[in-house]
Amino acid sequence: MVSRVIPVDPFDLVIFGGTGDLARRKILPGLFRRFCAGQMPNGSRVIGAARGEMDSAAYREFVAEAIAEFGGERACEDGTLDGFLERMEFVTIDARGENGWSDLVELMRDDVVRAFYFSVGPSLFGDLAERLTKHGLTDADSRIVVEKPFGRDLDTAKALNRDLAKHFDERQIYRIDHYLGKETVQNLMAVRFGNMLFEPLWNSQYVDHIQITVAETVGVGGRGEYYDKSGAMRDMVQNHLMQLLCLIAMEPPSKFDPDAVRDEKLKVIRALDPMVPHHIVRGQYEPGEDEPGYREAVGDPRSRTESYIAMKVGISNWRWAGTPFYLRTGKRLKARSSEIVVVFKELNHSIFGEAGEHRNELSIRLQPNEGITLGVTIKEPGPGGMRLMNVPLDMSFAEALGADGADQTDAYERLIMDVIRGNQTLFMRGDEVEAAWAWTDPIIQGWEARGDVPKTYDAGSEGPVDAVQLLARDTRVWRKVAP
Ligand code: BG6
Repeated sequence: MVSRVIPVDPFDLVIFGGTGDLARRKILPGLFRRFCAGQMPNGSRVIGAARGEMDSAAYREFVAEAIAEFGGERACEDGTLDGFLERMEFVTIDARGENGWSDLVELMRDDVVRAFYFSVGPSLFGDLAERLTKHGLTDADSRIVVEKPFGRDLDTAKALNRDLAKHFDERQIYRIDHYLGKETVQNLMAVRFGNMLFEPLWNSQYVDHIQITVAETVGVGGRGEYYDKSGAMRDMVQNHLMQLLCLIAMEPPSKFDPDAVRDEKLKVIRALDPMVPHHIVRGQYEPGEDEPGYREAVGDPRSRTESYIAMKVGISNWRWAGTPFYLRTGKRLKARSSEIVVVFKELNHSIFGEAGEHRNELSIRLQPNEGITLGVTIKEPGPGGMRLMNVPLDMSFAEALGADGADQTDAYERLIMDVIRGNQTLFMRGDEVEAAWAWTDPIIQGWEARGDVPKTYDAGSEGPVDAVQLLARDTRVWRKVAP
């Protein structure tokens, strides 16, 4: 199977924070891979912008190193790297001052798509937006891309939205949640709305409960300072897990169009039940054999920030009332594994008696080993009576789709190309982000008011014991965290 590459229009993409970590790890290598795939048309340019002094030649070296370190997995033909580097420019610029803006004005062209990637802290969003318009760098077709975290609560998110709205229309603002750019996450929509099979059963009448797991083996690493102010709730739940929940739970949009999809996601967030404290378990990882524990890693022996969270979430609407959604995510867990499992109800009546009591489970594996498995009940082979067993109807994308199934385009590559194309479907709208914070804020405020202390869990485990009990109370069990 050959992937289709649809070239985009020529563009100038300015990356503020062009020498930062995200640019180095994701944005620049991602653009290079799109270039290799033939998606970046002649005349397109990438302009790194940052405060440090550097010229375009030095930036090209920086980009080449970033690609060598993070972009080599898909080898390009000889000479391609030079072709890509020729498209790189650099300007030294001060987001809060006037330095460098006239250089950027001189560089930019007005006959190509102009996109500005704010790969900087949110405290600079407003300044950048203001200076871009002040210097006449944007028109009605220009786009800006902003990274998470988009605020740290409802008030700060509203303030950011207001600052951006002073200079840009909502249709020009691309708020990234890189989970939406993952191949299998988009497959959730394809599976739900591209098959007759599932949608009639996709409701509380047939679904017992749904589990959403995003487990990581890494700890907080060098990001302790940021992470300790955020925790799993702000870092993962308010955005990535919320988006997964929305895609699983939303009503079918009338068409695959940015606002139709986002309207439906917003309705899910607004229908979430307020959280009750005993439906949440927070955890912090202990030291491992050769890795520091959470508190050591963030340098605060009394930190109360969670590196793990499990929660039972209810959605009060016609489709889902009565079906719990169990969400969990954590660092330093047993395996890197993200999956969504839809557990269907037991049969109303089994003609096979107890032997027939098997449930269907649909598991959508997001990473690694992307694929879909449906647990189906069949007869145990052989003579000697009617015994039943549950077997997986297993579809690994890598096996079913060959090279294309395994060779997943990185989320950032896809999302950046969507920005250039002007397609906002996979980006969060301002009201969606605010609604997510409106639901999250009281939970965090509750912990702060009560002085809630997370439970500890062993590094390399499946999380705190209390998380097991969260489901056991409902006579349910978590799926194993396995690669
Ligand atoms: C980021 C979080 O948004 O997502 C990180 O800030 C987390 O803490 C990462 O590790 C997980 O992304 P992925 O694509 O590796 O699942």
